[in-house]
Amino acid sequence: MGTVILGIESSCDDTSAAVVRDRRLLSNVIAGQEVHRKYGGVVPELASRAHQQNIVPVVDRALKEAGVSRQEIHAVAFTRGPGLLGSLLVGSSFTKGFTAALGIPMIEVNHLQAHIMVHFIQSEISPGPSPDFPFLCLLVSGGHTQLVLVRNHHHMEIIGKTIDDAAGEAFDKCAKLLGLSYPGGPHVDKLAREGDPLRFTFNKPRLEGFDYSFSGLKTSFLYFLRDQLKEDPNFIDQNKADLAASLQRTIIEILLNKLRKASRKTGIRQIALAGGVSANSGLRKAMEEEAGKHDWDLFIPPLSFTTDNAAMIAITGYYRYLEGHFSSDDTTPLARMYF
Ligand code: KG4
Ligand code: ZN
Repeated sequence: MGTVILGIESSCDDTSAAVVRDRRLLSNVIAGQEVHRKYGGVVPELASRAHQQNIVPVVDRALKEAGVSRQEIHAVAFTRGPGLLGSLLVGSSFTKGFTAALGIPMIEVNHLQAHIMVHFIQSEISPGPSPDFPFLCLLVSGGHTQLVLVRNHHHMEIIGKTIDDAAGEAFDKCAKLLGLSYPGGPHVDKLAREGDPLRFTFNKPRLEGFDYSFSGLKTSFLYFLRDQLKEDPNFIDQNKADLAASLQRTIIEILLNKLRKASRKTGIRQIALAGGVSANSGLRKAMEEEAGKHDWDLFIPPLSFTTDNAAMIAITGYYRYLEGHFSSDDTTPLARMYF
């Protein structure tokens, strides 16, 4: 039989629903939103409207693909935050109506913890072992960059975080300067494969402790391009791949410097990667090389679990269900949410 959890994710611009039976993933349906592309970033008002259109068909499909009826669901887990308020409201309101109709509990989930929890999903694409506790997770997404000490499924401590932009923002904002469409991270990744990562040098922050900063890199990239374009208006077009590769190398070096330091200081060598930017092929490769050098046990999620998805919400909901962590029906979404 097992415990069946329906997960709902609607924090940004992907509407997603997933079903798990215990730790096993039965379905994970994601509807992206093309509407934002022409604006060069997510437009909150349009995102909530698209969630409103997508949520019922996406949940229907997730249940059908899982072969699960509504009556078999034990609880519904939803993203309470952090995220765009209007987007979160769609997921949380849907969950309230759905659980009230079925007389089952609802479970709030922190989106960032959920990114980390993908390492506990059992599925055909993630058949391997999960990390042992405690482990360190480098969580890199569009809105957040954090080093997290994961003590168990529920207790996670942020030991380092960005003081300005997130790594994903650095990819996206610099990509925009190169004339690439939103989100720019995947385009930079693709271009970087053809380029020389050592061709250009950009500023790296000098921060104490485990905190990150990416705004200096963004400014240094902007000024560099501005100066070069004065000399040669075709500079970007003629050097795009090298620019992408050099930018990507710098972001990866910034990320890995602190991770290496945190592992050394804590003595923890169980290392995991999570969040949208962990789809980056250069980062994945660099982590593997680093793991080889320092004898880390490395856990890199399958690509489809890196960007926003409801499988991560469902698995987190499953562990919260086991502890009886249910939410009351006056729970409201949180644009900022800490753990
Ligand atoms: O975790 P996520 O899906 O959404 C947030 O919770 O923010 O992360 C989205 C971020 C975007 O900034 C996007 O450009 C970046 O992940 N991203 C990548 C790649 N795929 C997605 N960045 C670099 N390389 C990629 N392959
Ligand atoms: Zn995310």
